Amino acid sequence: MATNRTFTMIKPDAVANGHIGAILDHIIKGGFKIVAMKYTSLTPEKAGEFYSVHKERPFYGDLVKFMSSGPIVAAILEKDNAVEDFRKLIGATDPSKAEAGTIRQLFAKSIDANAVHGSDSDENAQIEGSFYFSAFEQF
Ligand code: TYD
Repeated sequence: MATNRTFTMIKPDAVANGHIGAILDHIIKGGFKIVAMKYTSLTPEKAGEFYSVHKERPFYGDLVKFMSSGPIVAAILEKDNAVEDFRKLIGATDPSKAEAGTIRQLFAKSIDANAVHGSDSDENAQIEGSFYFSAFEQF
């Protein structure tokens, strides 16, 4: 059964380009409730751990460097069918292939600096949410 929570990060490119407010607005208007949120950053070690599933991929080194290059916003979001609906709201990994009106189409410039993260399964949403937040930080 699908759980009703997913995990997101507003990535360093979108934070640096001043898109935090606009992206949060899209998320809230998309029907998601924010149940945990923090403005933070990743060390290269922490970014490597978060993306360890990709460690054999050719883009892993650049991904770790990019994700630790500046502040991010991490959040847990709640909505029915959260994981799937949030993936629809953010659009394809490559913004040039993302549907019109999706967050990546609107705010991302490239496949590597693609504005937002969204968990790809209920299991990963749970793992990624607890990477940043304790149970006491989730409302
Ligand atoms: P992935 O999990 O495939 O995409 P998504 O974020 O849509 O779930 O990849 C994780 C991140 O790795 C992706 O958001 C950006 C980066 N990435 C690249 O830099 N180059 C690539 O070719 C791919 C597939 C991903």
